Parts: sequence; C-alpha cells; structure tokens
Amino acid sequence: MAFALRQSSQEPAPLALPRHLAAGLLAVTSAAALSLAAAPLPALAVSGGGGVSESLAGKDLTGQDLRKFKLTKGNLRKVTNFTNANLEGVSLFGSLSEGAIFKGANLRNADLESGNYEFADFTNAVLEGAFVNNAQFVKVTITGSDWTDVILRKDIQKELCAIADGVNPTTGVATRDSLLCP
Ligand SMILES: *[C@@H]1O[C@H](CO)[C@@H](O)[C@H](O)[C@H]1NC(C)=O
Repeated sequence: MAFALRQSSQEPAPLALPRHLAAGLLAVTSAAALSLAAAPLPALAVSGGGGVSESLAGKDLTGQDLRKFKLTKGNLRKVTNFTNANLEGVSLFGSLSEGAIFKGANLRNADLESGNYEFADFTNAVLEGAFVNNAQFVKVTITGSDWTDVILRKDIQKELCAIADGVNPTTGVATRDSLLCP
C-alpha cells in the first residue's frame, strides 16, 4: 500500500510535515488537488532520507506537473486521475495503476516498467520513448495514444494493435502507426 513520494532533487524541502498531517492533506481528493496546485508537494517531499510515504490511490492529480517526483512502486489504484498531467520522464516503476486515468497525459520517456496498467485509460496520452518492459496492459483503453519509439514485446504489440485507433491530438500521430501495427 505505502509508496514513496519523493522529490528527485537533493534540495532540502522547505517544510517537512509529520506523516499524519501529510496523510490528512492528501485525504480529500479535491482538497488535495487544490493543495497540490498551491505547491505543497515539495513540502511533502523530504530529502536526505525518509520521504513521506503515502498512497495516491484514487487521488485527483489532474493537470499536475509531476516531473520532479518519483512514483516508483506507487499504489495508484482505484482511478488515480492523471488527466493531462505532465509525467515526462517520471518513474512509475512497478506501480499498481489498475484503472488509473492517464487521459491526455504526457508520459514521454516515463518508466512504466513492471507496472500493472490493467483497465488504465491512456486515451490521447503521449508515451513516446516510454519504457514498458514487463508492464501489464490488459484491457487498457488506448484510443489516440502515441507509442512512438516504445519498445514492445511482440505479443503485447499484437494485443494493443487489436484495439488501436485514433490519432493523437498533440503529436498528430496515428495510434496504429505509432505501434507499428501491420
Ligand atoms: C478526471 O479529471 C478530469 C479533468 O479534471 C475530469 O473531467 C474527469 O471527470 C475525472 N475523472 C474521474 C473518474 O474522476
């Protein structure tokens, strides 16, 4: 369940919140979204050891710029909402993202390796150059997503090609073309 939300830079955080306060801050979805917009995320990040561990399951992270954060092994289950979020280069390694919403998200060069994306929604997401080794994409939605330069295992490519359609609104690339579908 627990998962580390850490700032990847080594800069000292302006404020380290006790765990229960941090949990409270993230407890209410809409409040969390507002708080995040007001930039308390750096305050939640503790450098030099012992980051605040918190589950982002079900949280609304719509439109957030999360590039500085590592969501490694995060529990992003139960419709974590990453609609239009900027996750470029972010590590989601081993995350449990069943049903997570990545609509229109920027996942360029993100690390999705060993993650579970069952039922996740990648509609119009850009995954260009993302790493997906050992990721589960069962029952995903991928309309309009761009998989350019994503190295896919043959069987997974086949599964995705079976449901691929649409054109990415950001890059103008057709999903089928990005997946090199036959
Ligand atoms: C996710 O966020 C988008 C944009 O804010 C919103 O339109 C959508 O309803 C949200 N989805 C869920 C399941 O909360």
